[in-house]
Amino acid sequence: MINPSAGAINIDFHVNGKSYSMQVEPFKTILEVLRDDLGLTGAKKGCDDGNCGACTVIMDGKAVKACSLLIGQARGKKITTIEGLEDENGLHPLQKAFIDRFAIQCGFCTPGMIMTAKAILDANPNATEEDIREGMHGNICRCTGYVKIVEAVEAARDQMNR
Ligand code: FES
Ligand code: FES
Repeated sequence: MINPSAGAINIDFHVNGKSYSMQVEPFKTILEVLRDDLGLTGAKKGCDDGNCGACTVIMDGKAVKACSLLIGQARGKKITTIEGLEDENGLHPLQKAFIDRFAIQCGFCTPGMIMTAKAILDANPNATEEDIREGMHGNICRCTGYVKIVEAVEAARDQMNR
């Protein structure tokens, strides 16, 4: 609903299992609201143009680039960010595998990589190396050369299937 006096919209959505009802400027992206209004700085602003994947979050089960969606597109949706992966058992298997397999160097791409990988494995728990490479083609890493990232996702897949 638009509030003409304030130039803001009311928006209800969910992030990492918490419900939010807030007024925001309609031209803010989901990434800006997550980072600037909610303090969830895990999703990174890389290109801010839909090309690098550093801002990837999961919205209603799909990996999306949060820099490329306006906050109004989150209305009623369930968003998961990297901050929402850890649970009472500790880090998510993907987070552990990225650490154990040395799939992180500067770390800037890592939250987006992990969220994309999670969406791939949630949709297909038996994703092959080819599936993983294809699914992650929109996530750019300037440091690792990708081999260790793919190995980490495969290791997490195997761990989660045990
Ligand atoms: Fe969103 Fe690069 S910051 S795709
Ligand atoms: Fe540096 Fe991927 S670890 S961009």
